[in-house]
Amino acid sequence: MGYSRLGQTLTAREVFHLVREDLEKVEREIGLESIASVEAVSRIAQYMQKNGGKRLRPILVLLSCRLLGPASESAVRMAAVVELIHTATLVHDDVIDTASTRRGKPSANVLWGNHTSVLAGDWLYMQAFQIALRQRNFHVLDILIGLTQMMVEGELLQLERIGNMEISEADYMELIDRKTASLFSACARLGALMGGGDEATEAKLGEYAWSLGIAFQLIDDVLDFTSRENVLGKPVGSDLREGKVTLPLIYALQEATPEERHLVETVLKDASYDNIPLSRILCLIEKYKGFDRTRDRALEFTERARSIILEFPDSPYQRAMVAITDLITERDR
Ligand code: IPE
Ligand code: IPE
Ligand code: MG
Ligand code: MG
Repeated sequence: MGYSRLGQTLTAREVFHLVREDLEKVEREIGLESIASVEAVSRIAQYMQKNGGKRLRPILVLLSCRLLGPASESAVRMAAVVELIHTATLVHDDVIDTASTRRGKPSANVLWGNHTSVLAGDWLYMQAFQIALRQRNFHVLDILIGLTQMMVEGELLQLERIGNMEISEADYMELIDRKTASLFSACARLGALMGGGDEATEAKLGEYAWSLGIAFQLIDDVLDFTSRENVLGKPVGSDLREGKVTLPLIYALQEATPEERHLVETVLKDASYDNIPLSRILCLIEKYKGFDRTRDRALEFTERARSIILEFPDSPYQRAMVAITDLITERDR
């Protein structure tokens, strides 16, 4: 494939192709490391791996490393670590959200129940830490522990705000910083570290990925309303039904009439669209340009990510990292 063409934008396929061999190793590592002495844990871990996912976080680790240096076994290992942490958070998140679908399949909590899922999530976290420990690098552990605490804080903040229509854009940003962007940032920082990058480079790549993470969650929250279940792999309109007031709706609520606010209140109270159909809420958000404004916000963050990565010398990996900034806002799942 013509990666040598200067200034050429890469497609998702080309980005994937660039790290394909490393990703295959990551999958092997995850498979090998997902075997527990208790069968229920292994089954949940293998079920999650088999059902796919975009592997965006491992890709960020691998690209950040390759941007700075040659392929490394440690980067593969760290890529497996972040995917395992991501998997643990998803298993826990679906328990907390009482979700029924993940990656187009019944979620673990549906198949194995809450208790087993919580414990399997704990096991996955600890397995990730155990793999990371093999690196014998305190900085790595520092990043991973800080990150895990941030993500837990994010989920706790989200719980505190369930059903709350008064949350501001700043509250929302604080939340997605913790629950999503912190992991993205850690991925790039770990990759930079494995690629031999210095502190300043690590910080720069961390900021690049942090901005991507914010944009990713903003788009996720738009897609939650606008996509289709067979594309998204989870039911449409879940966030509001689960009591989560996200940015498209926050923008609409800033300008909504008391009657319109009452519609949202009703969905939150019912925790369903039985009395107020989702289409009514979609119209409300459209009316106040909630989707456009949220997409514009996402573009501001990917623009920032792009300007950071453009400071690095041109290479196929750099171009892939530029391409990801567009792929995140153009994605449909
Ligand atoms: C889901 O992340 C959790 C969010 C931060 C919205 P992804 O959409 O990356 O999940 P998979 O791994 O591709 O399923
Ligand atoms: C993101 O939260 C999940 C984590 C970062 C743990 P959501 O609850 O919005 O994610 P989905 O929509 O279930 O994937
Ligand atoms: Mg959820
Ligand atoms: Mg969501």
